[in-house]
Amino acid sequence: MNKKKEIVLSGIRPTGFVHLGNYFGAIRNWANMQDEFDCYFCVVDWHSLTTHPDTKELKPNVARLLSELIGSGLDPDKCVLYIQSDVPEIAELYLYLNMLAYKGELEKTATFKDKVRMQPGNSNAGLLTYPVLQAADILIHRAVKVPVGKDQEQHIEMTRNFAERFNYRYGEVFPKPYAFNYGEALIKIMSLDGSGKMSKSENQMNTIYLADDDEMLRNKIMKAKTDSGPTMPNAAKPDYIQGLFNLMKVASADEVVKKFEADFNNCSIRYGEMKKQLAEDMIKFITPIRARSEAIRNDDKYMMQVMEQGAAKARASAKVTLQLVRDAMGFKYY
Ligand code: TRP
Repeated sequence: MNKKKEIVLSGIRPTGFVHLGNYFGAIRNWANMQDEFDCYFCVVDWHSLTTHPDTKELKPNVARLLSELIGSGLDPDKCVLYIQSDVPEIAELYLYLNMLAYKGELEKTATFKDKVRMQPGNSNAGLLTYPVLQAADILIHRAVKVPVGKDQEQHIEMTRNFAERFNYRYGEVFPKPYAFNYGEALIKIMSLDGSGKMSKSENQMNTIYLADDDEMLRNKIMKAKTDSGPTMPNAAKPDYIQGLFNLMKVASADEVVKKFEADFNNCSIRYGEMKKQLAEDMIKFITPIRARSEAIRNDDKYMMQVMEQGAAKARASAKVTLQLVRDAMGFKYY
């Protein structure tokens, strides 16, 4: 029997270059889900307007992100890879869901409070209703699994609430979506100065991008923060050293990681040597992704085809859901 696959949706904003935190925290997991599930992955350009109202760079940013997603392993023939603004049905569902979302719950969302703190001069209504638009992204395909990081769990919980309120008021249309990961402990990708997660908005020298060339990778890694080494056997690692080991775990062979772990534990570690090794392994890891992404980005015909095909598949799915929504709500006058 042909069992219907569960529907997966996730989104990523086209603001800034893809970095290792995005890759290991999200994109690699998405790529792993493509065979098992019915996957939708969306470049959420509307969401980026809440913090980046200037649209001049939108086109190159979207092209870069799409090419980096494909270069990282998303296969447009296996998943539906599309741009949010190509699917106007999302905006209509957003309108309906807005009527079911309360000002109070939106105002106390953690991401809203953070962003208002970061841009006090622009606390626009789009920022306030950001979780509603995200809920529309998810519910428009009636997705049940949403692969996202910890910081997004509150938005997924809100999505469940909006779906429940809709179903209660108008009839059962939406299944309940849940945040998903494969349960394997996600390796935390830290910024190169150990000050927190690797992120887009951080100092660019502390973030490793998929677009970084070999020289840049060497440069950044050799400049990463270290110290004069442990003075006691089996000491605890400071965050910035743990961060380097975590990078090594994702880029280097197991024996290499083990060797440096042992060196650390018996206080003979030489961080210069460790960083040299890490830089070369990181180059081997990133170079093919960068090369694939560049080739894809330079192939206008292919890029066009990916966007058109993604839009058509996403809209077909969205239209079915929106018709169910309109029927349930009674927008049927003649
Ligand atoms: N808010 C998400 C982020 O900042 C991006 C996003 C938008 C998203 N729509 C989504 C994630 C739908 C998952 C599902 O990372």
